[in-house]
Amino acid sequence: QPIYLSDYRPPAYRVTRTELTFDLDPSATRVKARLHLERHPDREAESPLELDGEQLALKAIAIDGQPLAPGEYEVGEAGLVVHRVPAAFLLDTEVEIAPDANTALSGLYRSSGMFCTQCEAEGFRRITFYPDRPDVMATFSTTLIGRAEQEPVLLSNGNPVERGELPDGRHFVTWEDPHPKPSYLFALVAGDLKNVEDSFTTMSGRDVTLQIWVEEENLDKTEHAMASLKRAMRWDEEAYGREYDLDRFMIVAVNDFNMGAMENKGLNIFNSAAVLTHPQTATDAAFQRVEGIVAHEYFHNWSGNRVTCRDWFQLSLKEGFTVFRDQCFTADINSAPVKRIEDVSFFRTAQFAEDAGPTAHPVRPDHYIEIGNFYTLTIYEKGAEIVRMLSNLVGQEAFRRGSDLYFARFDGQAVTIEDFVDCMAEASGQDLSQFMRWYAQAGTPEIDAHGEYDYANAEYRLILRQRTPATPGQPDKQPLHIPVRLGLVGTKSGRDLPLTLEGESLGSDTVIHLREEEQEFLFTDVSEAPVPSLLRGFSAPVKLHFPFSREDLAFLQAHDSDGFNRWDAGQRLALLALDDLIAAHRNGVEKVMDARVVEAFRALLAADIDDKAVLAQMLTLPSEAYIAEQQPLVDVDAIHAARTFVKQSLALALRDDFLRLYEENRLDAPYAPEPEQIAARSLKNVALSYLMAIEDETGLELARAQFEADDNMTDVRHALTLMVHGSRGDIADPALKVFGEKWAHDPLVMDQWFAIQVTRPQPDVLDRVAFLMEHPAFSLKNPNKVRALIGTFANQNPVNFHRIDGSGYRLLADTVIELNRLNPEIAARLVTPLTRWARFDETRQELMKAELERIRAEEDLSPNVYEVVEKALA
Ligand code: ARG
Ligand code: ZN
Repeated sequence: QPIYLSDYRPPAYRVTRTELTFDLDPSATRVKARLHLERHPDREAESPLELDGEQLALKAIAIDGQPLAPGEYEVGEAGLVVHRVPAAFLLDTEVEIAPDANTALSGLYRSSGMFCTQCEAEGFRRITFYPDRPDVMATFSTTLIGRAEQEPVLLSNGNPVERGELPDGRHFVTWEDPHPKPSYLFALVAGDLKNVEDSFTTMSGRDVTLQIWVEEENLDKTEHAMASLKRAMRWDEEAYGREYDLDRFMIVAVNDFNMGAMENKGLNIFNSAAVLTHPQTATDAAFQRVEGIVAHEYFHNWSGNRVTCRDWFQLSLKEGFTVFRDQCFTADINSAPVKRIEDVSFFRTAQFAEDAGPTAHPVRPDHYIEIGNFYTLTIYEKGAEIVRMLSNLVGQEAFRRGSDLYFARFDGQAVTIEDFVDCMAEASGQDLSQFMRWYAQAGTPEIDAHGEYDYANAEYRLILRQRTPATPGQPDKQPLHIPVRLGLVGTKSGRDLPLTLEGESLGSDTVIHLREEEQEFLFTDVSEAPVPSLLRGFSAPVKLHFPFSREDLAFLQAHDSDGFNRWDAGQRLALLALDDLIAAHRNGVEKVMDARVVEAFRALLAADIDDKAVLAQMLTLPSEAYIAEQQPLVDVDAIHAARTFVKQSLALALRDDFLRLYEENRLDAPYAPEPEQIAARSLKNVALSYLMAIEDETGLELARAQFEADDNMTDVRHALTLMVHGSRGDIADPALKVFGEKWAHDPLVMDQWFAIQVTRPQPDVLDRVAFLMEHPAFSLKNPNKVRALIGTFANQNPVNFHRIDGSGYRLLADTVIELNRLNPEIAARLVTPLTRWARFDETRQELMKAELERIRAEEDLSPNVYEVVEKALA
């Protein structure tokens, strides 16, 4: 039974203050809640009090100190109703809950012997009876009582105000959070934790204590997160004028966590994978991910906490904006073009696929069954692309004025996406009403473009047509307001030509606004024939089609002034060659390598590209998943064969260049996760990938030596992956064993050990997956393990997941069925690859649908899994 945005009503009763006491016990925790409640002035006196509550055993209930008689209230599956209440009153309840039995990891649960919470979106109702919705904001006082021995550390939001000893070896701490907040931002942590401490002086000169709490053995893995936190705090002051607002800021690492991390007020809780790093255990990519997530959660303190969402349909208000903020932060402190390439490359693979599948939804959905299913790439990443377009449309200065206005006007309130966009419209004086459609329409818009150069009149005519394909429940789409950043690159000069449009000169790089279904743009005074460079920097989240010739693409790859489009031209060129090879493979014709791609690579390797990180990206072929995204019907085997063929052809033709590249980018300096080093390592490792694609002796030797040098996880993992994915078991197996034994004690490294093995393209991998599921380091109850083993297999090993005997599908469905009972949120995410059945041939379609039907037939299907499977089979 879906919930609709159009049914929104303000709450009948609000809570102004919440006082909680937790008597912590692994199997029987007592939670006492005292809520200060007030009726909304517009609501009738008869309005019943309705509180959310799930799996709570009610032990006591009283209003203004008077216990309620049975009949004065009712407890159901989803909550508690009190039939008649005064206009303002105190409600006292006491409930019992079982953290030990909480395998869904929502509400209060246990992880590696500690107590912790995850309340967003609707976990607080598994802790106590409450109006568990973001537009109810209260100040919180929280008293935690625990065993001094097992839970020496007792943390909650805000500032500690009192602590003391209690009988029977118990003790307590009381925390007071002065900032009114919705229940989803509540958190507690209790356990035997150690911390590292640092401090930060805010722009107005206040000292903030910074703490990262971890299990003792992880104390040496916190340095990077702490440094990232301080950079993020400074950046938010400089870029947005946002200052931190409590005396302390805490981060806690927990091993069992459904997502990356959570922005609870003053007490961020992180999946240990999203916060812990060490050169020996984490790759460069992991270091960068940690930096981004630490910043993301910190930025939520303003975009999410001080100004929050009115209801969960507005989720992208905080997530889209905060992702945009963390992207800009990362771009500012690392390489901006590489950050953009990485983000777009991921976006076009994964979000485009979501937008084209059965669970496609608008950035602001208008209904849902289970909000836990809407923490999606569309809400987060497409939401961020919309905010990026806004910032480009109104310009950086107006955007900053708009965000200042937003934070000032709505501080302490729960608001909507309109409120945000209105601030941007007000600050810029622009009409953004058509732009709002981006939030309402699902599906990826496509632009069909073509252009003509009129030599005689020195004119270039560009014609753009937009259409958005139908998505489930949205057959008809309106034209969107699409900013297209472009330049015209002169084929003679190799330079951006000056742009004149309707008599106005616009420099050599400009944004044109596509608002109609079809529009023509006539550029005048175009002195030489150009190749257009369109959608620079991926200025809008759309698919752009233009009939580029391969010569055009090679030209743009060499000459475009926009680094992003230079990369994109190379990707498009490779995709054209891959298309031919995919067709050849399907038709059983001999594969012939396109010499233009080889020459383009040769030119790249010879060119003096100073941004090594960009060069590494340019030398990387589109992933199998991205190639699949471009195909009308996905043929995983043909795609794998074609891509392997291109890699091997390039490696054979350019072997010496790759060898040179490898040698030139070896580092002698001690490992540091810094941009220049990361760039050199990625370039070196790209070179190694090519050499290993042909598995010649030199390549094998380099890989083995790199593995054995054991200098840092980036190099070790890369070398090991190449060996394990190759054909030489005699080299790979001993290395895998050494690695597995060395790191058996470290769960985050074992996750990598799993992932390396299950991405092996060889057909023996299915047995390996089944075998590893029995490994002592694996557990279905731990989301990181499930993701590393099953998720990685299903999403990153297309040839084996899509095995024509259906065994990959069966394995995934079996796991989903088990997880449905343990952890519905993770189960619903895991099922995703099966929902994409429409993209495959008939045989595979039938096999995939049969597995979805088998899942649907399960008794006790969770709403999470039900919603996804139902849409997939509709
Ligand atoms: N707000 C968190 C973040 O983006 C994610 C919360 C996820 N909640 C959930 N139920 N999946 O950082
Ligand atoms: Zn977030």
